[in-house]
Order: sequence, then C-alpha cells, then structure tokens
Amino acid sequence: MTPVPEDKFTFGLWTVGWQGRDPFGDATRAALDPAETVRRLAELGAYGVTFHDDDLIPFGSGEAEREAHVKRFRQALDATGMKVPMATTNLFTHPVFKDGAFTANDRDVRRYAVRKTLRNIDLAAELGASVYVAWGGREGAESGAAKDVRTALDRLKEAFDVLAEYVLAQGLELRFAIEPKPNEPRGDILLPTVGHALAFIERLEHPELFGVNPETGHEQMAGLNFPHGIAQALWAGKLFHIDLNGQSGIKYDQDLRFGAGDLRQAFWLVDLLESAGYTGPRHFDFKPPRTEDLDGVWASAAGCMRNYLALKAKAAAFRADPVVQDALRAARLDQLARPTLAPGETVGELLADRSAFEDFDPDAAGRRGMAFERLDQLAMDHLLGLR
Ligand code: GCO
Ligand code: MN
Ligand code: MN
Ligand code: MN
Repeated sequence: MTPVPEDKFTFGLWTVGWQGRDPFGDATRAALDPAETVRRLAELGAYGVTFHDDDLIPFGSGEAEREAHVKRFRQALDATGMKVPMATTNLFTHPVFKDGAFTANDRDVRRYAVRKTLRNIDLAAELGASVYVAWGGREGAESGAAKDVRTALDRLKEAFDVLAEYVLAQGLELRFAIEPKPNEPRGDILLPTVGHALAFIERLEHPELFGVNPETGHEQMAGLNFPHGIAQALWAGKLFHIDLNGQSGIKYDQDLRFGAGDLRQAFWLVDLLESAGYTGPRHFDFKPPRTEDLDGVWASAAGCMRNYLALKAKAAAFRADPVVQDALRAARLDQLARPTLAPGETVGELLADRSAFEDFDPDAAGRRGMAFERLDQLAMDHLLGLR
C-alpha cells in the first residue's frame, strides 16, 4: 500500500493547496508554496503535479515575477524527479470570467481568455506536459435568454479550433482533455457530462487532438454511473486524462478524497482502469475538507493513493478468484463478448435462421436467471475483505 512513482499518482497544486474558502466561509488554511507542495507530494510517493497558470504564477504577476515563480518550481521538480504530465488554465476565478471565458458574451473577454490559455500552453509544453485540460466552469448560464446555447457552442468550437491550430503550428506534443461538469459555479454549464463532451469533440476541426478528462464527482452530481462514463470514453479512445475524487450522491461538488463517497463505484472504476490497461496518470482532483489543518491535508492526499492501491489489489483478487470466474461464466459475460452474428454471417442468413426467431422460445429465455446477484455478492465479499 506504499505508493511509488510507477503508480503514476499525480495531484493538482490547487488540491492540497485549497485554502478552504467556500461560499459561506473564509479560508481556514494558509497558502502553500508550490515548491514545498512538490517536495511533500514526492515524499508521499507521487509521480507528478499539475497546475493552473494562476496556481503557479499569481494572476497579474509581472514578467520578472513570473520567471522567478517558474524557476523555483522547476528547481523543485528537478530536485525530486516529479513530472508535470498535465496543465490547465484558470478561466473562472477573476471577475472578468463571471460570464464565461471562451463563451462569454463579451467578445474582448473571449479574446483575452484564448490569449491567457495560449500563454500557459507554452509553459505547459516547456515543462513537458502532454495533456492540456480545459474545464469550462464558467461557460454556462443561470437564466434562459442570457445565453444563446447554439451560438455559444459555435464560440466554444472556435476557441478549441484556434488552440488546436496553434499546437499543430508550433509542433507541440500536446493533446486536449475537456472536463465536463453539470453545474457549479454556473447554474448550468455547457458540456455537462462525458457524453455531451464526446459528441461535441466530433464537431471540432481536429477531433483527434481532443479527448475527455472526466471527474468522478461531476458525473455523480448528475446521478450518472462514473465507471460507465469512463468505459464509454475508453471505448471511444478518448480517455486522455482522469480526475479521481469522491462524491456522495447528487449534491454540491464535494471533491472528497478518492475512495470516500461512493466506494462501490470507486471499486468498479479501479477494476475498469486496471483491466483496460489505462496507462495515463491517476490524477487526484480533490479538496481536503476545510476542517483540516496541514497534517489533515497530507493525510487526505496519502488516503487518495492508499485507497486506489487497496482497490487495485481487491479488483485483482476479484478477477483472479476461480469462484468469481465461474460466476462470470454463469452470468454469461463470455456470451456478451461473442458477436451477435457469426463471422461473415449476413442479415439474409440471420433472416433464414429459424432458431433465431420462429423456433426461439422467448418465454423460456425470459425464465432464465442471470445469476448477477451471486456475482455481485462475490464482489462485495472481496470489497469487504470476506474473501
Ligand atoms: C471542479 C473542477 C476543477 C477543475 C480544475 C481544472 O472540481 O469543479 O474539477 O477542479 O478540474 O480546476 O481546471
Ligand atoms: Mn477536475
Ligand atoms: Mn469537482
Ligand atoms: Mn476539482
């Protein structure tokens, strides 16, 4: 259960660095120094860190100040061997983004947002990032006429097309991962779920450069099954990055540590990522609750990794258990893996196959049990440590 860099655990600077400010209360913790964060996370066994431009370089910094911040960060990376696999832009904190960034009604705000993003893309590439996340937290609305959604989607496509053009022109090895969220901070956010984002990507000029960065709690805020969303993203070849955290049902974005909240979904998620051979970073995007002091912050970060490793071991034991393998066959997962038509079979041959319809007994098939409860209880037994 001791994390090592090979586990590829990464954390955003803004996660452990969250000071606990919420809509009802002030900060409960002091700001963390990014270089110190890099060192602490390295000690805990992490592989790397990620950042928003403003996490590293406070908004409004001058050129000299900017360079000093980057230099200190680089020194910490070099000293620890920590990597920066992903970076992103803060397009939500400053009041200029109150109506969004790439889809703000104000054209000058949109142009500024694209410039802010391009500037940080250069830095991301310099630091070796291969994924650039785009979370459009302020791209949305609280009321109907305020946002013409079809036109806003035109502007969102325009911005992403410009970013793609830039990356191609500069010859950067960078791909984009769009992060969906249904609401918060806007009443309704554009591209609210993994499915919306996947459909949107296909309308872009360079869809091959775009994938998704789904966050556990964001899909669960919409009442959706996170492992199912991840499975579809994997199926589409679009899981470019992932934000792991915890959420207890449909409520405000809790950003709990990974494994807290819906533990069963966390188990199936790890089972999926590991059995699918996902090789990207296991990125934690969580917020240590504002009740915690700094010891609690690091305990929370360590807990994310510990829970992932524990679930990985549980999932491997579940898959290796001969009784489970037997139960999987009883539940006919092997049949699901078989194509519905025989190799080379035509629709004409299906129509000619009397066993498929005329001689098929739907009532008898309807009486067959699926044996899913026994299978799921075996999973629960593994999860609860009973096997
Ligand atoms: C959230 C979001 C943010 C973004 C991050 C990247 O929890 O609402 O996940 O944390 O992931 O800011 O831009
Ligand atoms: Mn996130
Ligand atoms: Mn979140
Ligand atoms: Mn988050």
